[in-house]
This record gives sequence, C-alpha cells and structure tokens, in this order.
Amino acid sequence: METKVWIVDNSNDLSLSYPQIAQAAALLMKNEVVAFPTETVYGLGANARSDEAVGKIYKAKGRPSDNPLIVHIATKEQLYEIAADVPEYVEKLIDVLWPGPITFVLPKRTGLSDRVTAGLNTVAVRMPDHPLALALIKEADLPIAAPSANLSGKPSPTRAAHVFDDLDGRIAGILDGGATGVGVESTVLDCTQRFPVILRPGGVTKEQLEELVGKVEVDQALIDEGHTPKSPGMKYTHYAPKAPLTIIDGSLSFFQEVIDSAKSEGKKVGVLATAEQAESYQADVVFICGSRRDMQSVAAGLYEVLRKFDEADVDCIYSESFTSEGVGQAVMNRLLKAAGHRIVKE
Ligand code: TXA
Ligand code: MG
Repeated sequence: METKVWIVDNSNDLSLSYPQIAQAAALLMKNEVVAFPTETVYGLGANARSDEAVGKIYKAKGRPSDNPLIVHIATKEQLYEIAADVPEYVEKLIDVLWPGPITFVLPKRTGLSDRVTAGLNTVAVRMPDHPLALALIKEADLPIAAPSANLSGKPSPTRAAHVFDDLDGRIAGILDGGATGVGVESTVLDCTQRFPVILRPGGVTKEQLEELVGKVEVDQALIDEGHTPKSPGMKYTHYAPKAPLTIIDGSLSFFQEVIDSAKSEGKKVGVLATAEQAESYQADVVFICGSRRDMQSVAAGLYEVLRKFDEADVDCIYSESFTSEGVGQAVMNRLLKAAGHRIVKE
C-alpha cells in the first residue's frame, strides 16, 4: 500500500477547508487508516464504528487485540453518543480540560465496534487539543479510534517522520502537522468509580485534577509493580531501547563514576541528559532532552531521544532521574518502563 503524506501548516486558519484534510477524512470514511498529529503524540486513526477499519489499526501496529483504543472526538455532543453515563465530576473536568491531554474511561453505549473496547463495557474518550486533529474528526464526522501511531513496542511518535519510519506502506496516509507539543500521552482517568482513578499518568497532572475535583486516586499498579494494572495497555512491556537503559539517581560525580566503569569494560556509553548538565558528562554519546527547569521540555523530547539512541548504536544508556511531580510523573513512568525499572541510587 502506498502511504500518502500531506503536509499542513498549522499556523493556517483550519476553519477554512483544506484539500489535504478533506482527502484524509475521505479515507477515514472509506474505513482506511490515517495518522494525524495531536497535542500529545501522533495518533493512528480509523472509524470507531467499523470493525473493518479498527481491525486495520491493530494489524498496522501489530497491537495485541486485548488492548483497547481511545476514541477521539471533536465536539461534546459526540461524547454523549458514545458514553452511557457521564458523572458530574467529569462534566466539570471537561469544561476546563477539553480539548486537552486527558482521556476519560466511561460506561459505553452501543454503536462502536467491539474491537475498539476489546470487549470491555467501558470506553476511553478524548478530545485532542490540536487544530488538525479537530478539523479532521469534524470533516470525517465520525468518532475516531486512535492509538499512538508507532509500531507496537516502539516509542510513541512525536513527529510525522517517526510515523513514516514505523508505518510506511502499512497505512493509507499521514497528516504531517509538525512536532507535537506535550510529548507524552494523555492521562487516562477511570471515571466508573466513586472517585476518579488515574490509570496512566500523562499530560494532565494529578495536581491539576485534584485542584478541580478534590480526591483523585492512583491505580495501585502505578505505585507497586506487583499489581495488575486496570488499564490493559499498561501491562505490556513498553518500549525498551536496544541497549539497556539505567536511570542514575545521584550527584554528577557519581554519574560520571558509573559512566567510567562502563567505559573501562570497553562499552560505548550513551547519556540522556538535560541541557544544564550535558556538558558535565564524559561519555561517547550525549543526547539532550529538555531542561531540568522545565519538565514539560523533558516530556516533549523524551520519545525522540529514545529513538535516537537506537540509531547511535551504543552498548548502554544512562539517564538522569527526574522529579515525579507534575508532568514529571508521566516522564518517570515512561522512563522507568523503558529502563525495565533499573534505577541506581547513589
Ligand atoms: O495521548 C494519547 O492518549 C494518544 C493520542 C494519539 O491520543 N493515544 C494513546 O493511545 O496513547 P494508546 O492506544 O497508545 O493508549 C491507550 C491507553 C492504553 O493503555 C489502553 O489500555 C487504555 O488507554 N485504555 C483504552 N480503553 C480503555 C478502557 N476502556 N479501560 C481502561 N483503559 C483503556
Ligand atoms: Mg501507545
């Protein structure tokens, strides 16, 4: 299959009609699969009402079929067509946080393909905060099922080129709207209990949620590795770079000792560093991932840097450690997964 790539300048007024968006939407309406940018990562979209269309997502990604997909919408009306029961606290959150990087898990209505929800009686719904995504969903006039647009096992794509590397020839098209902003996926919030439960930390922080609705719980599996996660996707071993990744929690001199010890074994050493500290490391490859003063910048660069280490052909990777506050919670969650939970404390 030939994968079409349409480049759209986001600074254009997307309320006008764009032939690229119309073509991408036409393919979605024909039950084909199209990748598009969101504010978090690129998504791989298909008509959420069609078994055939949704089946193509799983096939293109090589995704296990028991891992349900997020349904993307562009208007609030679409939410009520999909979800059976929307608690008051969700209404409150939506008013402030949508469009934005938060996904609500709610009891589902009929009308969606069962493959979207992997047989569960709940559905995950989100309104992305990206002009291209919203324009595309509106134009197709469909609920759009969309996981991250990477091959299963690879980091989520934050640029169209990452999607192309993974899925060229496997999908009908890619809408290229440049780099995404947030860089980590949306927060997944289970809203079927009395209190909301964070199943996956993401672009909206626990602190933000608590400020809006008070008590917010966190899935035990995020705290204790021994628990089975309630979000099916969280149980899969996530992307691990080819070279083993270890998080180093300590001083710069301790970090350098770790590097030196690997070097003395003849290893080619890579370091995931922040701008402030990058110059301090004597290693073979140092990639800068944002600034320590701005965790959002670390989130934005994380997946791209992880992809770059695979190309750099290092033998081992050491990463700085980060705060677990704010968006840092999502960053450390993804980093720990990529590291297989290897962390060395001074
Ligand atoms: O930011 C994002 O959320 C991106 C962009 C494209 O919107 N999408 C994304 O999708 O990260 P995906 O498929 O990579 O992750 C969806 C997560 C998985 O962990 C999945 O198990 C969980 O949401 N999920 C989906 N439906 C669920 C449900 N009904 N109950 C619990 N978890 C669900
Ligand atoms: Mg994903």
